Amino acid sequence: MKALQVIALTLLAILEASTQVLVAGKCPRPAVVRFFDASMYLGKWYEIQKLPVLFQQGECATATYSLESPGGNLEVLNKELLPDGSINSIVGSAVVTNSSEPAKMEVYFSPTSLPSPYWVLATDYRGHSLAFGCIDYGLFHAQFAWILSRQPTLVRKTLKDLQDLLASAGVNVDKMIPTNQNEAFCRAMG
Ligand SMILES: *[C@@H]1O[C@H](CO)[C@@H](O)[C@H](O)[C@H]1NC(C)=O
Repeated sequence: MKALQVIALTLLAILEASTQVLVAGKCPRPAVVRFFDASMYLGKWYEIQKLPVLFQQGECATATYSLESPGGNLEVLNKELLPDGSINSIVGSAVVTNSSEPAKMEVYFSPTSLPSPYWVLATDYRGHSLAFGCIDYGLFHAQFAWILSRQPTLVRKTLKDLQDLLASAGVNVDKMIPTNQNEAFCRAMG
């Protein structure tokens, strides 16, 4: 990488440092779900905890997966309630780049934007899911992680197990923040 690029990325990192979780060194490459079945992953997931990210500042966040076409890519609809009471929603397309590793997806939120990696590290499809993403920026990397549930709550033991799995993968779990999924608070989400 050229020196100017490194400087630019470092400046970007300083700007982002207040929200984004940046760690020195290269992205960890944790094991993913081996025989990931996207068809069983469809439907709605509630965000229980996440690493802070710039593009998700709301509460009550959900992700709903559907098939774009039979056997095709997944469509993901992300929704969240913003502090001003409005609902922010964005639609993306999750693409599997290597059919031998279907749990590793790249999510495109617009045709021109860079994809966001979305790796499913653990899921039982009906209860919980653990998703992880990471982007290398030369001397450091940005970590993303989401603990999801089919319900607005998640059993404490399961949450702990998923956090332990993330920690063993080299993820900064201490930085994870809970998402408010209080039913009354989130009523506007419908
Ligand atoms: C696809 O995934 C398999 C299994 O992990 C791996 O052996 C192979 O190298 C990958 N192919 C490419 C093009 O990355």
